[in-house]
Amino acid sequence: MSRIVVVSNRVALPQKSGAPAGGLAVAVNAALKDRGGIWFGWSGRIAPDPSDTPQETKHAGVTYAVVDLTNEDYQEYYNGFANRVLWPVLHYRVDLSEFYRSDLSGYIRVNRMFADHLEKIIRPDDILWIHDYHMMPLAKYLRERGHNNRIGFFLHIPMPPADIIQALPQHADTVGALAHYDLVGFQTEGDRENFARYLETRGGQTTPDGNGCDIGGRRVRLGTFPVGIETGAFARRARHASRTRFVKAFDESLSGRKLIIGVDRLDYSKGIPNRLDAYDQFLRTQPDWHDRVTFVQITPKSRTDVPEYQDMDRSVSHRAGQINGAYSDVSWTPLRYVNRTYSRSALAGFYRRADVALVTPLRDGMNLVAKEFVAAQDPADPGVLLLSQFAGAASELGNGALIVNPHDTEGVAVTLRRALEMPLAERRERHRRMMRVLEEHDINRWAEDYLAALVPDSQQPGRRDIALPRAAMRSVVRLPVGWGSSALPRGA
Ligand code: F6P
Repeated sequence: MSRIVVVSNRVALPQKSGAPAGGLAVAVNAALKDRGGIWFGWSGRIAPDPSDTPQETKHAGVTYAVVDLTNEDYQEYYNGFANRVLWPVLHYRVDLSEFYRSDLSGYIRVNRMFADHLEKIIRPDDILWIHDYHMMPLAKYLRERGHNNRIGFFLHIPMPPADIIQALPQHADTVGALAHYDLVGFQTEGDRENFARYLETRGGQTTPDGNGCDIGGRRVRLGTFPVGIETGAFARRARHASRTRFVKAFDESLSGRKLIIGVDRLDYSKGIPNRLDAYDQFLRTQPDWHDRVTFVQITPKSRTDVPEYQDMDRSVSHRAGQINGAYSDVSWTPLRYVNRTYSRSALAGFYRRADVALVTPLRDGMNLVAKEFVAAQDPADPGVLLLSQFAGAASELGNGALIVNPHDTEGVAVTLRRALEMPLAERRERHRRMMRVLEEHDINRWAEDYLAALVPDSQQPGRRDIALPRAAMRSVVRLPVGWGSSALPRGA
């Protein structure tokens, strides 16, 4: 039996499972849960002289193999190239990217080092599944070392149009190196199309079935696999959480006011300043809502060594203070801006209590907060999702969310009022539609679809031109902007 070897920068070690997991960790956990396998990556630690052998832990059929990084690796590979170049560029923010050749060298050095470690772990029939932008050239380095395993890649974040990718110095060595995988998976059709066009600019020929590209003497397949959530389990978690003392105390603190919730890592891609502007606009123009609503924005700090994140920390705290200064009363604080991290169970309980979720990133690969908010609702009295047209989740949840443009401050403010005043029948209908999508395409289905596309039953050794199964080729429903917000008549 082939084994699955998952590789990602972060590895959610079992002893840390109480910590809040990012989207990638949730997805990989689900993929390995019933299949077993190996999860290889960075330990999260910095050491002056990292060991040559990965440190292994076994838990519930999964072997976790992690390596430390030197401080130089951490600065150049993680803080530098991954988070100050690839992250902003792939989120369409070329203006924020800070490119240094030394960081690119560090990124390449660490990826080669990961390939060296993997060589000690993998067998010829293992299936390798590499995740996210930290590891783009890994397949290339494994191929150079003579490994012909099936190797797939999944990009959790957006893939911008070719013009933007080309702004990245030496893009052929990073984004272009994705052509060395057998299958590259994306969150949305738009991301997949952008990458296909980029490969064409590099001389790639689209395959006759349109699902791949022949380039540099090999074939890479491209597919769309929107990441899902553990829909049923999260809904159960929310039901239980809403009965805990902690969530009940939170509920009491709201004194019967409506609750608007936002949950995002502190990151410029999440559009938090724009969202605060929209809330300010809402409070300025809708005085009848004063003292009747509380907006809780939960924003754990992240990547605190990166200067752009430090700047954002200062400016968002300042903006939050301004809003409270302008509108608070002695017995009402309109905005609670919280940098603490909460467990997934606590968040599930908060989501269930919320009347509206503001999920308004300027750009996001998928955004699982949107999906978890929907799953956490009470179907008899659900809250309303306000969702950015620039979140990958809009491709799937446009059938029930109110889709907004986060750059349109007045539009978001008006839609917020609409969400707070939406009649029960319309809320139920919208929630029902979104839940149908989430139940059908949950995280297990995502892993199944991806792995079925990477390793078809009919795989013959050495064969490289196998068509993707139908499940993997399902196109995401792409809705025109604003469709979601006008899908139902007011008062329906
Ligand atoms: O895909 C982006 C992602 O890996 C998410 O899964 C996660 O929430 C976030 O980035 C974590 O970033 P970092 O590993 O830099 O803390």
